[in-house]
Amino acid sequence: MLHGKHILLGITGSIAAYKAATLCRLLIKEGADVQVVMTPLAKQFITPLTMATLSKRPILVEFFDPENGAWNSHVSLGEWADLYLIAPATANTLAKMACGIADNLLLTTYLSARCPVAVAAAMDLDMYAHTATQENLDTLRRRGVEVIEPDEGELASGLSGKGRMAEPEAIVRAIDGILARSEKKKNLSGKHFLVTAGATIEAIDPVRFISNHSSGKMGYALAGELAARGAEVTLVSGRTALPTPAGVRRVDVLSAEEMYRAALEAFDHADGAVMCAAVADYTPEEVADCKIKKGDGELTIRLRRTKDIAAELGTRKGNRLLVGFALETHDEEANAQSKLEKKHFDFVVLNSLRDAGAGFRGDTNKVTFIDHAGHESLPLMPKSEVAARIVDKIESMIDKKS
Ligand code: PMT
Repeated sequence: MLHGKHILLGITGSIAAYKAATLCRLLIKEGADVQVVMTPLAKQFITPLTMATLSKRPILVEFFDPENGAWNSHVSLGEWADLYLIAPATANTLAKMACGIADNLLLTTYLSARCPVAVAAAMDLDMYAHTATQENLDTLRRRGVEVIEPDEGELASGLSGKGRMAEPEAIVRAIDGILARSEKKKNLSGKHFLVTAGATIEAIDPVRFISNHSSGKMGYALAGELAARGAEVTLVSGRTALPTPAGVRRVDVLSAEEMYRAALEAFDHADGAVMCAAVADYTPEEVADCKIKKGDGELTIRLRRTKDIAAELGTRKGNRLLVGFALETHDEEANAQSKLEKKHFDFVVLNSLRDAGAGFRGDTNKVTFIDHAGHESLPLMPKSEVAARIVDKIESMIDKKS
């Protein structure tokens, strides 16, 4: 995707600025044309000479050249770029972006940019975890900025934790995906989808719970794909470590009951729903107030049925589209067929734990679409591609319904 693309690389004043040199080299190796913009403080961390040599273009820092008064136009920079990548992005720059402050060229260019914008956050772990920073990141995400999450590891302060800028190779992969998504047709503009993802957690006592292996990856890929095609997406998510996909509104829940309530509320305003969460079918009848102490004998926990969210949406769906998943270990097609009928799904995405690379946690899945007309089996592929195929099918079915 990067070949021939104009990448505006914004560098801010962080120790991670040294990685911008490798990042710039990698982008150029991929065939991109790179223009670097730096904040005045970034020059203390990496020299303009280094960046100018690598990018083969003069570096832009000030609004105008003090020698001859020539303006550096933030508007034309914003128009020139196919993507604006700010890496590293400090807590200070992120806060200014969230507030619309424009006191340097890098920031005025951000406010003028019409292209996709990505930020690779870099800071100390406490600054990153601070509510102010997290709220600023959420604000930027809501406005469509792609946040490339920092890695965990050793930090310049000597502390260890989440805050290290992602490695240049990972940033290049991320922006490749962002460019690919931005070129997709926005066929789902004006549509609203609910997506459920991840595992629910059913408390036994304040310490223990019943859950399952869902990481949320499949559901998050779907939410991201729907948003990339222009849909408004509400992602009702069980506990996961994944970042919120760009442009997606996320509602965090823990238990099946919480997911039921959040999903029903979001479905009221939705044109369709994709039920990818692995929801507990049973929950403890009673949750102990205190930690259950071990005794000598066996312990029996009585479970009661949870509400079936998908089945409930099925009864309310009217002309709306409802897509279900079926996770099976045996009699796959028969079980999936029965879910199609019972829950009033328009189609079911079947994945079986008997297929290597399919189902929980991994980055791939192998699925079969089952609808009222028949079956279609797809080969093993990355979850992002499975999501794209599911959304292709959603697009074709939504066209028929409208
Ligand atoms: O999150 P990952 O690690 O990427 O893994 C992805 C996945 C394996 C979780 C995903 O691909 C998947 O199969 N999700 C559905 C898991 C599941 O619980 O399937 P099921 O066959 O038990 O449920 C059938 C359908 O009813 C599902 O759409 C499920 O979301 C829904 N359901 C089930 C029970 C319940 N109480 N409410 C529901 O809405």
